[in-house]
Amino acid sequence: MKALVLAGGSGTRLRPITHTSAKQLVPVANKPVLFYGLEAIAEAGITELGLVVGDTHAEIEAAVGDGSAFGLRATYLRQEAPLGLAHGVLIAREFLGDEDFVMYLGDNFIVGGISELVGRFARERPAAQIMLTKVADPRQFGVAELDAEGRVIGLEEKPERPKSDLALVGVYLFSPAVHDAVAELKPSWRGELEITDAIQWLIEAGLRVESSLVSGYWKDTGNVTDMLEVNRLVLESVERSVGGRVDAGSELIGRVVVEPGAVVESSRVVGPAIIGAGALVRDSYVGPFTSIGAACTVTGSEIEYSIVLPRASIAGVGRIEASLIGHDVEVTPAPNTPRAHRLVLGDHSKVQISS
Ligand code: DAU
Repeated sequence: MKALVLAGGSGTRLRPITHTSAKQLVPVANKPVLFYGLEAIAEAGITELGLVVGDTHAEIEAAVGDGSAFGLRATYLRQEAPLGLAHGVLIAREFLGDEDFVMYLGDNFIVGGISELVGRFARERPAAQIMLTKVADPRQFGVAELDAEGRVIGLEEKPERPKSDLALVGVYLFSPAVHDAVAELKPSWRGELEITDAIQWLIEAGLRVESSLVSGYWKDTGNVTDMLEVNRLVLESVERSVGGRVDAGSELIGRVVVEPGAVVESSRVVGPAIIGAGALVRDSYVGPFTSIGAACTVTGSEIEYSIVLPRASIAGVGRIEASLIGHDVEVTPAPNTPRAHRLVLGDHSKVQISS
């Protein structure tokens, strides 16, 4: 079995906070979301990896290299434009040959890996196997319709009126039969070759499409609340490890990771939390479910349940919570506000003063 990871896309989409152009490199617990997928693929015993890349290919190649760091052999497949997930399969035709493959969307995160799914596929050998998960707003996803026995009878891409709350997760297992489907596809209303249409084609051709329900799923939607939540989930399972320098005036409580080259001085860090390589935390408090990126500086501040991306600095600003702070951001106190208000107020004025 081979793996096909889709890590393309136009690179023009600006996330609300970070401007990492490759969304697959958004960090979760200080590690790009793409890396969790690659680890899951290697863990499932797969070694041959095809990576579909687009405009952001240089960034992805710099991060993944030849794949050997993950125990994988990476082949890069250049997609000229993001013409759809099924288009990714089309351009990978030669790489995939006549083998079964797992297609993994590089911006998806699945708790618990894919070994079980790959095992089930190898045993049951359907034409395709998909994963579904209940979501609050199915309109942002591919949506599956099931019959009374739980068999998939229809799939729709980003429907305005979803027929269920079961979204397609971005991990699909295919037999080579999918290539016949992909070869027949026409671009959808959004101008893409849709993988949902290819799976629908398989169903209509009378081939077996299996599904399984999963929980513990996240997709990069640019949504800060979701990102903080997935960061929390991953930090829940980190083990304590202290590779950096922690002075005697500091206290680390619980599962705290201090990466090599990081320095913690006169501070209190309550885990689960991670302090990235080369970061400095001084005279501060870092609370649970916080990821401080590499080479960040946190001084004279308190921060909890937050993600701070590399090289940001936070200095003397009191308490920060539930925040996502981008690369190279500087957070500093506002200039001193006067302690007394001097007012000349006319008759009948209504004034609200905070503080
Ligand atoms: O994440 C799950 C959803 O992924 C499914 O529920 C949908 O059925 C499926 O179509 C897909 O939805 P999106 O339209 O949101 O996918 P997105 O454009 O975010 O692309 C997913 C990944 O694939 C992302 O890492 C970029 C990459 N990609 C995407 C396209 C369209 C490519 O490499 N090439 C492409 O042409």
